[in-house]
Amino acid sequence: MNSILVTGGAGFIGSHTVVELYKAGYTPVIIDDFSNSHPKVLQGIESIIGEAPIFYQGDCSDVQFLISVLAKHPDICGCIHFAAFKAVGESVLNPLKYYQNNIGSLSVLLNALREYKITQLVFSSSCTVYGQPTSLPVDENASIEHANSPYGYTKQVCERMICDVHASVKGLSSAVLRYFNPIGAHASGLIGELPLGTPDNLVPFITQSAAGLRDGLTIFGNDYNTPDGTCIRDYIHVVDLAKAHVAALTWTNNNPNSCEAFNIGTGKGNSVKEVIDTFELVNDLKLKVAIGERRPGDVEQIYASGLKAKELLKWTPELSLADALIDAWRWQQNLSVEA
Ligand code: UD1
Repeated sequence: MNSILVTGGAGFIGSHTVVELYKAGYTPVIIDDFSNSHPKVLQGIESIIGEAPIFYQGDCSDVQFLISVLAKHPDICGCIHFAAFKAVGESVLNPLKYYQNNIGSLSVLLNALREYKITQLVFSSSCTVYGQPTSLPVDENASIEHANSPYGYTKQVCERMICDVHASVKGLSSAVLRYFNPIGAHASGLIGELPLGTPDNLVPFITQSAAGLRDGLTIFGNDYNTPDGTCIRDYIHVVDLAKAHVAALTWTNNNPNSCEAFNIGTGKGNSVKEVIDTFELVNDLKLKVAIGERRPGDVEQIYASGLKAKELLKWTPELSLADALIDAWRWQQNLSVEA
């Protein structure tokens, strides 16, 4: 019983987690519909782990599809549920797409897990559930604030849905992971972030600008109440984040009938300007940077208290911001060579 269903396993965080699951002795069973990923990610995983990963293409909100995969793999004992849309701006323009996919798929999945007696669940949530916290670093007891976007609201609803299911039935153990800002790529340069179209997030925008694919980078506001005026976030290397999922699976196995949320960050805040300066320094590059307007919906600063994850999951991040920015740039260069 060491197979793990990984929904959205061809995505940015999913693909890195698949690699870490293999390294930890699990057999990941990936499902992905490629709505925000690319089949070549599977080749990258294969090159790293030395064998083709088990993969099914489909939508995990499709009950028949999901059941057909579970029926083929009776040794699946747990699930890591990544599959969800995550673009804040798009969720404002097309909220139903987000409600249907993010909430709909979790509901289908929870039913299927119960039917197949799968008792371990690790769920992808986000620090967005905290809004702008009143004290920093933010810990898991901070209040869940009014969501600024339909995307953020779907994460709150999904967390609540998991709690409600726990209250109603015995058997399931869930770790809800609240990611801060995942960045970087695998050190091999074989997998990384593959944003389709113009990236929304800072680091892919930086690497694409450095590669000459974007006409320069805009800092969204430098008049915030922070030391250099730009927003502060907690940037976590995606490989550290992937390892947190393996630790969370162990925790769900050791703690039956439990349900806990965990912050997954570094505990350190860095400003947008510090990220850009570090990128330039460690990669010996100069970016074209302009100062623009604030981006609607951005919180001024947020970074994690990682004490709970350290204590209960026995997990702490090992890689630095510089490591992540070196790895992200290596990945971008490999992509540019392929293109
Ligand atoms: C956002 C979401 C988060 C979600 C994550 C998914 C919010 C408040 N946060 O994180 O819930 O999980 O995306 O990917 O909605 N920036 C620039 N120029 C750019 C791009 C970004 O200055 O071209 C700045 C932003 O203003 C922000 C920082 O960089 O201050 C990080 O932005 P981003 O990478 O988009 O992440 P979040 O907004 O923190």
